[in-house]
Amino acid sequence: MVGDRFFRHIDSACWDPDVRLREMDRDGIDVQVISATPVLFAYERLVEHALDCAQLFNDAALELCSRGKGRLKSFCQVPLQDVDAACKELTRCMKAGHLGVQIGNHVDNRNLDDPGVVTFLQHCADENAAVLVHPWDMFGHERMPKYMMPWTVGMPAETQLSVVALILSGAFDRLPSALRICFAHGGGSFAFLLGRLENAWHHHPVAHGDCQHPPSYYLNRFCTDSAVFDQRTLQFLVATMGTDRVMLGSDYPFPLGEERVGSLIRQSNLPQHTKVKLLSGNAARFLKLEAGPQPGEGRESGTAPLAPEPGQRTYSSYLKVPELLDLQQPQSSPPHHDELLFILVHQTYELWFKELLHDLDAVVANLRKAGAAPESHDKVYEAARLLRRCTEITRVLVEQFTILETMLPTHFLAFRGLLEPASGFQSEQFREIEFLCGLKDEKMLRYHRPTPEAYASLKRRLEEPSLHDVFFVALQSMGMLAPAADGTTERERFEARAQAVHALYKDEHHHRDWIDVCERLTEFDELVVSWRLRHIQLVERIIGIRMGTGGSAGASYLKLTLDKKFFPELWEARTLLTE
Ligand code: HEM
Repeated sequence: MVGDRFFRHIDSACWDPDVRLREMDRDGIDVQVISATPVLFAYERLVEHALDCAQLFNDAALELCSRGKGRLKSFCQVPLQDVDAACKELTRCMKAGHLGVQIGNHVDNRNLDDPGVVTFLQHCADENAAVLVHPWDMFGHERMPKYMMPWTVGMPAETQLSVVALILSGAFDRLPSALRICFAHGGGSFAFLLGRLENAWHHHPVAHGDCQHPPSYYLNRFCTDSAVFDQRTLQFLVATMGTDRVMLGSDYPFPLGEERVGSLIRQSNLPQHTKVKLLSGNAARFLKLEAGPQPGEGRESGTAPLAPEPGQRTYSSYLKVPELLDLQQPQSSPPHHDELLFILVHQTYELWFKELLHDLDAVVANLRKAGAAPESHDKVYEAARLLRRCTEITRVLVEQFTILETMLPTHFLAFRGLLEPASGFQSEQFREIEFLCGLKDEKMLRYHRPTPEAYASLKRRLEEPSLHDVFFVALQSMGMLAPAADGTTERERFEARAQAVHALYKDEHHHRDWIDVCERLTEFDELVVSWRLRHIQLVERIIGIRMGTGGSAGASYLKLTLDKKFFPELWEARTLLTE
């Protein structure tokens, strides 16, 4: 009852820890954070009464948790109408074992940006208390007398109002980023209307408020729970807030709560690692639930590694391991055992191609600088060092085909049809490597038209000076190669370049560092040809002389690529050398 008015039926789950634990087991919930219901805030009462009420419920909550076998934790409540009293009660509760505080989203007519409330939030940050904001005492009662509209319409709007008030008032600019604050019910209507807010902020000075940045900048300053009851809304909320800032919220055990707590997340199409974050990781971090190692704990012998604190970077979060492991999506149904290998091997090649491009770009930059300052040897040395990495990577790439050769031709044929026209021929990075090194073939661009980003980066590579160009420009700056006179044929230019390389080798004493670069470039060229050859052998071993999925004649097309060299002048120079 609220006064003499019926408010809500409740049952023993509200006060009996055994009932709660049973229902938690039924729903697969390990830990629950409990709090008194907002109707008990008593913000409209005299502060002494609100404090009495808060202390009563806060102590009762701890007593209930003490019988919860370590699986029940609590949020306190405070008399928020009086900042000093609220801060004092929070301090007392945090010492007594609460994890944080639940506050209403307004006190009378004061929103969360009220200076007193902001002072209280600052205090929460100082006390390391998590804050859950729950809508209550909804506005527009007169216009929403029926159909539970205060819950379905008023609450989401109240919550949105609170988030917007904190953002636009600049409160988030003043409050420390250590403040952990979460808004109930998916943050109400906030996420859905963020675009509208952002638009107003950019176009109407009056909507600008006092914040330093556009509203979306502050998304990483707060979290929401997941109580939105609809798959598409959950997907949208996660896409807006990010996978780290939404956590399971239940409204348990009240009528609008989730019937089987956690089912919305569990049944969603979100990737498994995101589900894990929403179901546990994000809340553990928000609530600081998993205690990190105490100083010296487990380390006396000097052998035990440190367990990371919740929220700290881990092996997995740094390397994005869950995301990485989610990237293999075999298409065969029922799944063909070897399709995973086929995908993984190709993905591994693409990762190494990425590193090759990264290093080759740095080689180009170093050779450019070396050409600009021929007396400095550092850049040439650095270029040779990075080229050695490129050759080592390519050596691994040549070797890796053997893993794929453990796949029987029949096994590949079982899922080959699913590739449609997909083929390594469309590997954008492979083509980029060719273009970057100097093997530019404009005709290749058309195969990448369907993917505009790939097309744009290949076009850029086509127009930029290649590694080949930069190398010979550097020889020009050193005076080893005369600029080509007008009217000289391509053949004459080629011979002049080969002669310049020849001259380097003839004067080893003065050009050791450049000869080292030449040797590395030659080795790289050699290894790429080995890669082409091994690839052809693999192709013949797996599909014989069939056509490729990319539409070429297969092995016979690939054999034509064997003569391709990035640096033919380096090979020609060897013919020019005499005893
Ligand atoms: C079962 C294994 C494989 C088969 C049967 C195969 C087959 C082929 C064929 C027939 C072509 C010619 C284009 C076409 O018509 O499709 C081709 C091109 C190509 N493949 Fe593979 N391939 C295999 C594995 C790989 C792997 C692991 C990579 C690593 C990235 C790769 C990278 C390439 C590249 C870059 C080209 C274009 C070569 C060029 O145009 O010079 N292939 N492949």
